Amino acid sequence: MVSAPNMAVDLGGIQMSNPVNTAAGTYGFGWQFEGFYDVSTLGAITTKGCAAEPWPGNPAPRMCDVTSGVMNSVGLQNPGVRGLVAEAGEYLAGLSEKGCQVICQVAGHSVDEYVAAVELFEELAPWAAGLEINISCPNIAAGGCAMGSTPEGAAEVVRAVRPRTSRPLLVKMAPARVVDVARALEAEGADALSVINSIPAMAIDVHTRRSKLSRPTGGLSGPVLHNIAVRMVWEVAQAVDIPINGVGGVASGEDAAEFILAGATAVSVGSANLFDPECAPRILAELEEWVASQGVDDVNELIGAFECQ
Ligand SMILES: Cc1cc2nc3c(=O)[nH]c(=O)nc-3n(C[C@H](O)[C@H](O)[C@H](O)COP(=O)(O)O)c2cc1C
Repeated sequence: MVSAPNMAVDLGGIQMSNPVNTAAGTYGFGWQFEGFYDVSTLGAITTKGCAAEPWPGNPAPRMCDVTSGVMNSVGLQNPGVRGLVAEAGEYLAGLSEKGCQVICQVAGHSVDEYVAAVELFEELAPWAAGLEINISCPNIAAGGCAMGSTPEGAAEVVRAVRPRTSRPLLVKMAPARVVDVARALEAEGADALSVINSIPAMAIDVHTRRSKLSRPTGGLSGPVLHNIAVRMVWEVAQAVDIPINGVGGVASGEDAAEFILAGATAVSVGSANLFDPECAPRILAELEEWVASQGVDDVNELIGAFECQ
């Protein structure tokens, strides 16, 4: 009898039972998906980005459909770290006990705000297996993309938060200058990199001549950006030694497998959760089937196994 392949991976110190996790902002705080399947079967979940204090986000409309994807300008609406803990702390602690790792995403407009949020997570969220610093949101005025798009700006944030936590620190990267930024983040002590966030884009309603969102631009996500993300994961994998979490347009096991071959240790499911809330366990099952089909007994053997002819 052929035994099931090992699917456990180590994402920069976060021990995941399998490589599938969820992308911040597309999965709430996890409990919203319990009606669809047992969330604890996933390797990890990443919670909606939270700042030290609550943020209202941007005005509506904040989402629209585009060809092969979605655009959003949510602007990191969140209840703050205390709000997250009040709403979902007990659930998330239980999830972590069941073996699904909880990665808490950290938002900020300034270096001081990132530090304040990390300190609050340290105090209030002992169940968090790791923190993901979001320096790449295209929909907020400062922080976000503004800091994550240059090696200097990205490094500054990680240099400030690194000493505040001994937990694994992931950094969610913007789709800009990825090789230079990744090297800077590794040098500052990031444990893993999430590659990539949504891509700044525009959608115009030609009848009203107005943006389809409340702002002129928003973040593009979904299948439309998958192959751009695969290319960026591959480029980053050549440049750094820390593990990569591939994010962008994963809707099938094959999409996840592409990221792993390009060099990702884990993959996040994002927009696909919005159009198919049951997709994450299906993607995991398809991924496991693919690993078995490759004649290996451990998914880790396939990380970076892309053959460049
Ligand atoms: C509605 C919505 C909200 C999002 N909110 C966040 C967020 O809070 N933090 C973040 O880093 N990325 C956020 N993202 C980006 C996703 O986490 C992910 O990086 C991006 O959507 C690309 O992956 P996908 O194509 O699988 O969706 C959001 C995306 C969507 C569609």
